[in-house]
Amino acid sequence: MKLLEDKILAEGRALNSSTLKVDSFINHQVDPVLMDAIGREFACHFKNAGVTKVLTIESSGIAPAVYTAMHLNVPMIILKKQTSKILNGNVAQTNITSFTKGTSYELTLSLDYVNPSDTVLIIDDFLANGEAATGAVRLAKAAGAKIAGIGILIEKSFQKGRQKLLDQGYDVYSLARIARLDEGIIEFVK
Ligand code: G4P
Ligand code: NA
Ligand code: NA
Repeated sequence: MKLLEDKILAEGRALNSSTLKVDSFINHQVDPVLMDAIGREFACHFKNAGVTKVLTIESSGIAPAVYTAMHLNVPMIILKKQTSKILNGNVAQTNITSFTKGTSYELTLSLDYVNPSDTVLIIDDFLANGEAATGAVRLAKAAGAKIAGIGILIEKSFQKGRQKLLDQGYDVYSLARIARLDEGIIEFVK
């Protein structure tokens, strides 16, 4: 998606060979006009996939996911990193390990909002090793739902997440695919 690639080149900052900072339009400040265009693009790509719910992981997936859901005219559901005290016992949970951050956390989905009649589209900001996306797939499956696919804003194509998800048979649609990062260098997949 040229709009997103141009924004990344204009405002993204490659800190080193693995990390791209996009705080000015995705992770801290959010560009709603860009998010609307992103949502429209995901909705267009997945329009024939029978999507009934859009799923995302808090927090940075929420903005693009809500615009995607709006353009598909379906609800959006946030997978929670912190178990709310007011969630009842009717939940699915799974553990996610982040190799980038060297941490792990529990991800929770209330089964009140996803059931076997659903087909879910998973949206997230970054795809690195694919651990978060794979965890979201596990939760959707635990709820009995079908997976329409996975929509990603920025895929770090030099890491193994995309292949991991393709190997499981999922449609992975990434709007910007980064082949290489280094201090001050951002190269997209040709
Ligand atoms: P994985 O799920 O694909 O294996 O990825 P990883 O463990 O690397 O992701 C951990 C967190 O780091 C995620 O955010 C992810 O969006 C973010 N992340 C990964 N690579 C980059 C990068 O190059 N730049 C930026 N800005 N973020 C990156 P999170 O901890 O879930 O937090 P949130 O931002 O959604 O709140
Ligand atoms: Na994220
Ligand atoms: Na993030």
